[in-house]
Amino acid sequence: MKSLNGKVAVVTGATGSIGGAICHTLAAAGCAVVAGFNRSAAAAHTLIAQLPDSGHCALALPVSDSAALAAAAASVAERYGRTDILVNCAGTTRFVEHSDLDSLDDALIDEILATNVRGPFAAVRAFRSLLCADGDGLVVNISSTAAASAIGSNVVYCASKAALDNMTRSLGRALAPHIRVLSVSPGLVDTDFVKSMDPAWRDRQSSNTPLGRLAQPEEVADTVLAAASLLTFATGSVLYVDGGRLLGR
Ligand SMILES: NC(=O)c1ccc[n+]([C@@H]2O[C@H](COP(=O)([O-])OP(=O)(O)OC[C@H]3O[C@@H](n4cnc5c(N)ncnc54)[C@H](OP(=O)(O)O)[C@@H]3O)[C@@H](O)[C@H]2O)c1
Repeated sequence: MKSLNGKVAVVTGATGSIGGAICHTLAAAGCAVVAGFNRSAAAAHTLIAQLPDSGHCALALPVSDSAALAAAAASVAERYGRTDILVNCAGTTRFVEHSDLDSLDDALIDEILATNVRGPFAAVRAFRSLLCADGDGLVVNISSTAAASAIGSNVVYCASKAALDNMTRSLGRALAPHIRVLSVSPGLVDTDFVKSMDPAWRDRQSSNTPLGRLAQPEEVADTVLAAASLLTFATGSVLYVDGGRLLGR
C-alpha cells in the first residue's frame, strides 16, 4: 500500500456529508487536507478542527468561479507547494420528476452544469501544475450511478454525471502519465439528507440494491483512499460503490 503520509489532498464540497467523510479518511491516512467550501465557511473550519493530526486548512473553493479557484490554487501553492490528490466532490441538484420538463428551468440547468461539470474541469485546470509537481498526481471525481442508469434526482443531474464520467476518460488520457483521473460513483448514500426522506422510499431504494442497503459516506471515502493508495495503475476508469445497484434486481 502506497503511504499517503505528508501528501496534500484538496477536497471540494468538503462540508457535505460525503466530502466530510473523505476529509476524515484522507487525514487519518496521513494527508494534510485542504477542506474546500462554497457557502459553509464555518462548517469547514469546524471540520478541520475535528480532523486527526495537524496541517489542515479550510479554503474557499467555489467551483463555478474560475478566478476564485485560481486564487485558491495560488494559496495552496504558497502554503504547501504541492497538491497530490484533488477530490472533486462539490455537487448540486434538486428533485424534479423526469416527466416534468417545465420545472427543470434554465436557471437550474445552468447551476447544475456549472457546478457538476464545468466546476470539476475548472478545478483540475486550476490545480494541474500543482498536481504535476511530483509526477504522481491523482484527481478523483465523485460521480453517481445516475450517469449510467439515468435514474436520479432530475434529467440534467443524470446527464451532468454522465458528462463527468466522460471527462474522467478524456482527462485520464490527456493528463497521463503525470496525473491519474478516476471517477468514484456511488449509488444512493445514507447522508443526513437521504435519512430525512420518506422511510418507505429509502426502504425501497435499499431493497432495489442487491447488497440490501444504502452506502455509508465512509464507504465512498474508502474508495477514494483505495484509488490513492492501492489502485496505482488505474486511470480513466469509473469505480462503482453501489452495492450492485446497477445490476438491477
Ligand atoms: N448523497 C448521495 O446519495 C449521492 C449519491 C451519488 C453521488 N453523490 C455526489 O456526491 C457529492 C457529494 O454529495 P453530498 O450528498 O455529500 O452533498 P451535500 O451534502 O449536499 O453537499 C454538497 C457540497 O457541495 C458543495 N457545493 C455546492 N455548490 C458548490 C459550488 N458552486 N462550489 C463549491 N462547492 C459547492 C457544498 O458546499 P457549501 O455547503 O459550502 O455550499 C457542499 O459541501 C456530489 O457530487 C453528489 O452529486 C451523492
